[in-house]
Amino acid sequence: MTTPVWKPSQRLAFTTDENLLARAEAARRASGLPVYDLTLSNPTAAELPYPADALMQAFAEPSIAEYHPSPRGLAPARALVAADFARRGASVGTDQIVLTASSSESYSLLFKLLGNPGQAVLVPEPSYPLFDYLTSLEGLSPRPYRLAYDGRWHVDFDSVDLRDVAAIVVVSPNNPTGSYLSATDCDRLASLAAQEGIAIIADEVFADFPLAPAADAVTAMAGRKLPALTFSLGGLSKACGLPQMKLGWIAATGPAVLVEQALHDLDLVADSYLSVGTPVQVALPKLLEIGGALREAIHQRVLRNRAGLAASIGADSPCTLLPAEAGWSAIIRVPEVKNDEAWALELLREHGVLVQPGYFFDLRLGATLVLSLLPPPRIFDPGIAALLATCQV
Ligand SMILES: Cc1ncc(COP(=O)(O)O)c(C=O)c1O
Repeated sequence: MTTPVWKPSQRLAFTTDENLLARAEAARRASGLPVYDLTLSNPTAAELPYPADALMQAFAEPSIAEYHPSPRGLAPARALVAADFARRGASVGTDQIVLTASSSESYSLLFKLLGNPGQAVLVPEPSYPLFDYLTSLEGLSPRPYRLAYDGRWHVDFDSVDLRDVAAIVVVSPNNPTGSYLSATDCDRLASLAAQEGIAIIADEVFADFPLAPAADAVTAMAGRKLPALTFSLGGLSKACGLPQMKLGWIAATGPAVLVEQALHDLDLVADSYLSVGTPVQVALPKLLEIGGALREAIHQRVLRNRAGLAASIGADSPCTLLPAEAGWSAIIRVPEVKNDEAWALELLREHGVLVQPGYFFDLRLGATLVLSLLPPPRIFDPGIAALLATCQV
């Protein structure tokens, strides 16, 4: 008898073995020793004031018993999202909004809309590592373009290769660099995209968490009259600290004729799944209200932790905190006596401090550690103290 052989799709070719840090974390947790998790990025696990009763009440609406399938989502919910763009200074019509289950799903729908199998998607580097997965799962491949750092992050246009490209992804503010796209880079990228007939996907999920934005930071691409078709992504997950609700959105902007055709075709894609639940759409007015308070609480936490971190790094410390314009992450440059993975492993094994090495994000600035600004003070403060004490070489 032949042994059955599992043959997954090549779309799963990105699957990798568990890395050393994940193994070290499992061992540390199994030992029962404390872990100061400075990678925490789930706001519901960050000891923030989640009003469980109000969240339950938000769903107490008789209309959750009805089903009105619609590829873009229910009009009243889309109108609220359009109004939320206005809060960020961008005027977007209700018809330009498409609801999804998450930003990751927004990427998935847009890659289906824009890409032919085998095509490349331009993605920023450094950035968060999910793009390998999101592109491969759609039969596409990520093609990095570099963000260069000279005290500020900007697009390295020499690394932008537009051959056979399905879409250009911009993450603004980027994770983990915390950099908004500058107006100059935005306009140059948009004019290149328009010339080549390539759409831009602008991931703005962290746009609501400014730290120290540059004067020319583009905080909402939908608010800028760009010559390229642009899809701006956001969602409850980050902007309202409500990832468990599973509601994301896409705003299509740019030349009207392209927007109209793109939305028509995006309807076909979205109609094949209809993945957004009715309850979350019906509850949206109240969720946005609750989310506004959560956003503020998250923002205060991030500001508090970043200020504490900056203050803890003395003038004579060999560590430096990279400036950031926005977002939930911080990047610390540590001495290059060992590489970033070795630092991360030492911090975890010997002090229980969990951080991510910069290479996870393709940071190429010597030895860097990436940490989240979301953890509660009782974890963040001792974690940072141990990190800075360890990296005093
Ligand atoms: C830059 C960026 N975009 C999108 C996402 C995913 O967001 P969502 O939870 O809405 O899928 C993340 C998650 O960390 C992220 O860092």
